[in-house]
Amino acid sequence: MDKIRLGVFGLGRGRSLFTSMLAAGAEIVAVCEKDERRIEEALKIAPEITVYRNFDEFIEHPMDAVMLCNYFNEHAEYAVRCLERNIHVLSETTSNTTMADGVKLVRAAERSSAFYMIAENYPFMVFNQEMRRVYREGTLGHVLYAEGEYNHPLNPNNMAEVVKLRPSQEHWRNNIPRTYYITHSLAPLMYITGQRPVKVSAMPVYGYSEDVTCPLNVRDRAAIITTINDDRSVFRITGCSAFGCHENSYRICGEYGQIENVRGSGNKVMLNYNKWDIPEGREEHNYYKPEFPEEDKPLLEKAGHGGSDFYVFREFINCIREKRHPEFDEYFATTMASVAILAHRSILEGNKAFDIPDFHREEERVLYENDVLTPFYGKNGEAPTQPCCSEIDYKPSAEKLAAYESALKERN
Ligand SMILES: NC(=O)c1ccc[n+]([C@@H]2O[C@H](COP(=O)([O-])OP(=O)(O)OC[C@H]3O[C@@H](n4cnc5c(N)ncnc54)[C@H](O)[C@@H]3O)[C@@H](O)[C@H]2O)c1
Repeated sequence: MDKIRLGVFGLGRGRSLFTSMLAAGAEIVAVCEKDERRIEEALKIAPEITVYRNFDEFIEHPMDAVMLCNYFNEHAEYAVRCLERNIHVLSETTSNTTMADGVKLVRAAERSSAFYMIAENYPFMVFNQEMRRVYREGTLGHVLYAEGEYNHPLNPNNMAEVVKLRPSQEHWRNNIPRTYYITHSLAPLMYITGQRPVKVSAMPVYGYSEDVTCPLNVRDRAAIITTINDDRSVFRITGCSAFGCHENSYRICGEYGQIENVRGSGNKVMLNYNKWDIPEGREEHNYYKPEFPEEDKPLLEKAGHGGSDFYVFREFINCIREKRHPEFDEYFATTMASVAILAHRSILEGNKAFDIPDFHREEERVLYENDVLTPFYGKNGEAPTQPCCSEIDYKPSAEKLAAYESALKERN
């Protein structure tokens, strides 16, 4: 198989990934987008692609694979439609935002001759690849505890930025609970250690001042999520948080030592052992900057997120070429989504712990196949069926909403 014929659904994040897609050996044959501004921008980069404004027509285009970069809360239904046609799926985060959609997705992937992969890039950051290499060599012993923190605040007084990222009151970014954007904090820990969460509970970190300019439906700044895993290790993760400032950090503590990426150090890792457990060839304290392989560097130059976007595509394309099942498959993805959804439920129900279902098992899927609770608006404007914030009755003031509405009108 020469080039992999790829279709891209959604041209916000989708367009920013073009360089990585091409570098990894994909040919972008078609795109689907309804926003004319975004179509125009994409055609400047790739004038030869066929443009569709409607998914029903787009899916008819001859393609080997589809990259889903549409709305965060609408990936699952389109993934199912692609899998039903035996088209490989690479889906942006997250795989599903209701438990019922997770069940549908896993069933569709099992029936399909194509495969499903979640496009989770943070595990491929240079320090996370290094932490996996070190962890898997065994000198740290078995993981006991790990931390994953993804911190991405937005300026709550910058209306222009808010309007750009949230083009309507019903847009997913306005209603996303702090636990839902979980993949950037959780996936690296699962990738490094190979462990899977089996139980979750969470607490909210509250809140924004009443003085901020922009209307925020979610006043929580973070969720502190704790999972117990299938080997009895514990993870402490944050979802997408907005405390402190922008950074992401990970720490793996084993029986004999620990490894972490050091905040503010420009991708350095610190690997420390107990004095009595120093392996041959290592020091008690090791502090160094891991590097990507030399041969990958030219391909990584224009890839986003510290080069990690490129590795997602390379893995996806290689899986298609080698007929190999991806590590970040439907079970990996829906486990993360279940942690996100049930962590939010934990916050809404007084920090109660929830079991994470194992979607390999049909008897566990059946329990969730009708669980459609959602904090998001539906495609046809249906109201959310669940609060999106720990302060369940919170609504931004009428004045703030009116200012947002008028900024939206100005932009459109
Ligand atoms: N992995 C990462 O580092 C990373 C970074 C940014 C975004 N993302 C993810 O990528 C996804 C997209 O993010 P975004 O910022 O571009 O979101 P967005 O909401 O700004 O853009 C989604 C795009 O999809 C289009 N779209 C949705 N439904 C459509 C339909 N039925 N027909 C035609 N077009 C349709 C919209 O018009 C819009 O342009 C999200 O899931 C987000 O979480 C991931």
